[in-house]
Amino acid sequence: MPRLSYVNGRFLPHTQAAIHVEDRGYQFGDGVYEVVSVMNRRLIDLDEHLDRLDWSLRELQIDWPVTRNVLGILIRQILHRNAVKNGIVYVQITRGVAPRDHKFPKKISPSLIMTTKKLNHLTASRYYEGAKVVTIPDIRWARCDIKSISLLPNCLGKQTAYESGAYEAWLVNEDGLITEGTSSNAWIVNNDGHLLTRPPTSEILNGITRLTILKLANANGIEFIERPFSVSEALSAREAFTTSATSFVTPIVTIDDETISDGKPGTLSKALMEHYKDYIGELSTF
Ligand code: PDD
Repeated sequence: MPRLSYVNGRFLPHTQAAIHVEDRGYQFGDGVYEVVSVMNRRLIDLDEHLDRLDWSLRELQIDWPVTRNVLGILIRQILHRNAVKNGIVYVQITRGVAPRDHKFPKKISPSLIMTTKKLNHLTASRYYEGAKVVTIPDIRWARCDIKSISLLPNCLGKQTAYESGAYEAWLVNEDGLITEGTSSNAWIVNNDGHLLTRPPTSEILNGITRLTILKLANANGIEFIERPFSVSEALSAREAFTTSATSFVTPIVTIDDETISDGKPGTLSKALMEHYKDYIGELSTF
């Protein structure tokens, strides 16, 4: 059975799944997306991802292509059809197909596509040995709270990370403060032992993993402060880590070729990962 992808109402063999040349997502990056991880047939935080999808769509005045309920059903269907036990589902909604014109077309139906990928989460050595990040200027737009498919600065940043042998690039604003990663949220335990992550303003994507980790910290009596931190504060931190739907809690042990603390994943980072794994284990299966 070939892998199926979903395009506007149809499940098609992945190699034949295609969108129209005048889809505004293709021509303008006029669309939004979500990546939801699946572990042991558990969809991690699907409701929260759909809440954020709703937020992104509203902010861009794009209609839901199907109801939220139906989208939930379709997500489960594609995972079942592709027999994904561990992996991700990618959901993308664009404004739709219309002759190229920057302003919004009057009558347009949004496009919905979905793909899946099988992945064995948590097998990579970075979870156990820690990963490297580099810092680069944040050259993105002022609405990073919208999960837009326009990701060129993020792609450039990830390529820089790759070429430097790093897992991720952390982005730095004009004040020398780290905003977030190209596809993850940045955290440190600073020199005073405070767990820090940036507050969710329009300068960052309010990560669903970030929100769950904050909830788990709360539930386990781990104090945190939502405030920006600088590159120098990160370099002198006791611990650092980055979170996302696909990187879970990834410990960071090197920033810009400087070793963080003793160069090993920190105690709190490891504890939060354990809480996160327990939390996933308690979610219901689909
Ligand atoms: N990226 N910040 C940015 C810029 C992101 O693209 C992501 C997620 C996050 C973390 O959000 P979450 O915890 O909801 O995954 C933060 C996804 C995984 C991606 O683009 O593949």
